[in-house]
Amino acid sequence: MNTSIDKLLKSLTLEEKAALVAGADMWKTQEIERAGVPSITMFDGTNGVRKPGSTQEMGLFSENMPATCYPTGVALGSTWNTELIEEVGEALGRESLALDTQILLGPGVNMKRSPLGGRNFEYYSEDPVLTGELGAAMVNGLQRMGVGASVKHFAGNNQETEKMVSNSVVDERTLREIYLTAFEIIVKKANPWTVMTSYNLLNGTYTSEHDFLLRQVLREEWGYDGVVMSDWTAVHDRLKSLRAGLDLEMPGPAKYNAVKLVSAVRSGELDESVLDASVRRMLELVAKVTAAAGSKEARQPWDVDAHHELARRAAAESIVLLKNENGILPLAAGKLRLLAVIGQKAKKPRYQGGGSARVTPTRLDIPYDEIAAMAGGEDHLAYAEGYRNDNEPDDALIKESVRLASQAEAAVLFVGQPEGTESEGYDSKTIDLPPAQVKLIQEVAAAQPNCIVILCNGTAVAMQEWIGGVPAVLEMWLSGQGSGRAVADILFGRVNPSGKLSETFPVKLSDTPSYLTFGDGNQQAVYSEGIFTGYRYYAKRSLSRCSRSATAYPTRRLSTAACAPALPAG
Ligand code: BGC
Repeated sequence: MNTSIDKLLKSLTLEEKAALVAGADMWKTQEIERAGVPSITMFDGTNGVRKPGSTQEMGLFSENMPATCYPTGVALGSTWNTELIEEVGEALGRESLALDTQILLGPGVNMKRSPLGGRNFEYYSEDPVLTGELGAAMVNGLQRMGVGASVKHFAGNNQETEKMVSNSVVDERTLREIYLTAFEIIVKKANPWTVMTSYNLLNGTYTSEHDFLLRQVLREEWGYDGVVMSDWTAVHDRLKSLRAGLDLEMPGPAKYNAVKLVSAVRSGELDESVLDASVRRMLELVAKVTAAAGSKEARQPWDVDAHHELARRAAAESIVLLKNENGILPLAAGKLRLLAVIGQKAKKPRYQGGGSARVTPTRLDIPYDEIAAMAGGEDHLAYAEGYRNDNEPDDALIKESVRLASQAEAAVLFVGQPEGTESEGYDSKTIDLPPAQVKLIQEVAAAQPNCIVILCNGTAVAMQEWIGGVPAVLEMWLSGQGSGRAVADILFGRVNPSGKLSETFPVKLSDTPSYLTFGDGNQQAVYSEGIFTGYRYYAKRSLSRCSRSATAYPTRRLSTAACAPALPAG
């Protein structure tokens, strides 16, 4: 293999080599037909394949090719189950092959520095070791199918505010212990075919041209020999980035930068061996991809039903029982006279976040329908919308909800951050539920003691305004296209809840360790809390309590044994 790659490398012209280290369009690398080098196609993303109609389109605001929408990172992170995540990785691999995708741009393994992070839903945890183990499982599953992973975004990319220009200021101990560890675990345990750098600067240098990060740490210390690619349009100084070890500039074509590379080699400014090292890694990647393209799974349709079942099963394992007083859950299937189902999200579910991770699902389970089926039919349900997609309480909607809830034997309330608030591109402003939903919960809970709150959100929310008044809370997360069935299974005890939080739920935003500096703007993100992120901070300040009282229904044993990071007292 190496001899043939050596030969191939020698046969390429300088112009061909410069073309090979950049994309050909939005999603493909350059083909060198003359030399028999095919192009590689890559698409997002972190919880499903997002394939636009053509490789010229970004496809962020259009419907893309249908693919299974698996639970988002935060939800998978709450399973703490490496075997399950590996299985999801394999399924993503199968779908990628069927959709002619050789590299899938995920998993996303950045740390959650603040619950306000716009992409928190894509990431597994606030803990580097848990993230590393789960990320390695995902990469192993995917790559076993012959599809390369792109572990992203390397590194110090923990906010969306000014993300293209923001400088993350992090001391070395914090960087290594908190922000690099997950990448290190994945590189060493799963050898991802590619690593994607981030948009931000790290201590004054763009990560796409960061010699310490890319050459010293990633390649020399960790021994990484795969391809490093840029995030989309994140290359600034191409010579600097190539020298630091960034092989592939995406997207392309990089007309200006290709000319620059050629003339830099000709003028002696750039040693051709530097370019050759990157070209060699690109050719090695092409060889891996080509070998996999010959597998029997390649371009075969996947079993849509079986993958939907997997999405349901993974969603059910993601759901976390946060509170269950008086054994109110599970509900008795088929035995309730009337169950009030309240909240717009029961019929219009929120099951994924926005931005490059947004998948067009193959189908979608609706919580209301799934609950109706288990409750014995719609005659046993009373539905009220409860709120609309805004902040202002609507007294008429609340009144109707209270009326129905008081006539029923129990009420299930679907609440969570409004559609469009959790996405790539911006950070959130608050971790509180909208006032309309808080008021709804308070008033329904006052009228109906058997009140179960179901949270649909991509990161921690504050609960202190209402949690004392309700006996049961389920964290459903943004759990993908099968989450409607999954939540019904959990509500009615067909599945015992086994999810555990993988991030801390603060009592209020101002309690969070990065509160004073997160999202400040001024193109600076100063990580002044150091290594005390997430539960480390609360534990250090003795603000934590780790409750095991509501982690499963009492009658059955759990299959997983992980303990949730601490919930702060309050
Ligand atoms: C995101 C990446 C994504 C890429 C391609 C960027 O904006 O940060 O995560 O893979 O776009 O869609």
